[in-house]
Amino acid sequence: MSLRELQERIEHIKRESQEALQRCRSVKDCEGVRVTFLGRRGKVTTLFEYLKDLSGEERPQAGRLLNELKSHIEAQLEARAYQLKAQELEEQLQKERLDVTLPGRAYRLGTLHVITQTLREIYRIFQQMGFEVYQTREVETDEMNFQLLNIPPDHPAREMQSTFYTTTPGVILRTHTSPGQIRVMRERCPEPIRVILPGKCYRYEQITPRSEIQFTQVEGLAVGRGVRMSDLKGVLTEFARQMFGPETAVKLRGSYFPFTEPSVELDIRCILCEGRGCRVCKGTGWLEILGAGMVHPTVLQNGGYDPEEFTGFAFGMGPERIAMLKHRIEDIRLFLGNDLRFLEQFG
Ligand code: PHE
Repeated sequence: MSLRELQERIEHIKRESQEALQRCRSVKDCEGVRVTFLGRRGKVTTLFEYLKDLSGEERPQAGRLLNELKSHIEAQLEARAYQLKAQELEEQLQKERLDVTLPGRAYRLGTLHVITQTLREIYRIFQQMGFEVYQTREVETDEMNFQLLNIPPDHPAREMQSTFYTTTPGVILRTHTSPGQIRVMRERCPEPIRVILPGKCYRYEQITPRSEIQFTQVEGLAVGRGVRMSDLKGVLTEFARQMFGPETAVKLRGSYFPFTEPSVELDIRCILCEGRGCRVCKGTGWLEILGAGMVHPTVLQNGGYDPEEFTGFAFGMGPERIAMLKHRIEDIRLFLGNDLRFLEQFG
């Protein structure tokens, strides 16, 4: 090959390598180009073999031209690889871009059940008046639930509270929270007592918009020397006003429970019609809120307290009924119905 021809080849390879590099789409492609031109059997490398065909004067010039070609392609390769690398990085950054200003996905938070909220409100009011919250058992004995509360086996009051029995004779699900009265008295005697006893109760009854087989009650019990009916009245009036509003009118109406004497029921002026008479108060203008009375001497005695020395008052209320009145809920079955559309209204 003559020097001329070699020069032409050099020019040709220069252009060829230039084009090859332009076609490269990645750093890896560049490596391919390097092998093609500068590898051991590459186009530039093999050109060096023609040097021996040239004359002594031409050879240094040709050698210089070939070395220039080699370093030219090396430089071009490096520049192109650098360019592609930057491009790849840029693409990756675009693709994996994080928008830190995007709002996060909100957690769906549950809310307290409306009965839990009502119970807490009741606790708050009675705690202010010095009552402690005392939990007792839901599975009770017939003795605690009835007999020690002055309800003997053939007492007609048992019919008011249809009972769930267990397979163990004498063991039942409590039909009210009143058996807790006996348990607290037996534990605390002869100390004075001021407690509320909240919890679930069970009655084997037809389920209707007004009655469920499972419901809650909050019992109240105060025992001491000189506890009077007026104390009961004061405590219940304060409760009604904190629960239903400071202007709430209350009245005590004579009633009957085997475990209190005298027994009363607390009515509040209807919070819906303000006493004019409506469907909810059945035209009477009054709503029954709870049962109460002075602890029967026999019950005090069953708790260990001498009725000659001690007196006490007790009351029992249904949080479901209170929540139904406060929130205008017309069906007690909604509380345990697990319908989120209902439950979510009490956030
Ligand atoms: N235990 C009664 C009931 O379930 C309520 C009550 C409690 C009445 C305490 C008087 C005293 O109906």
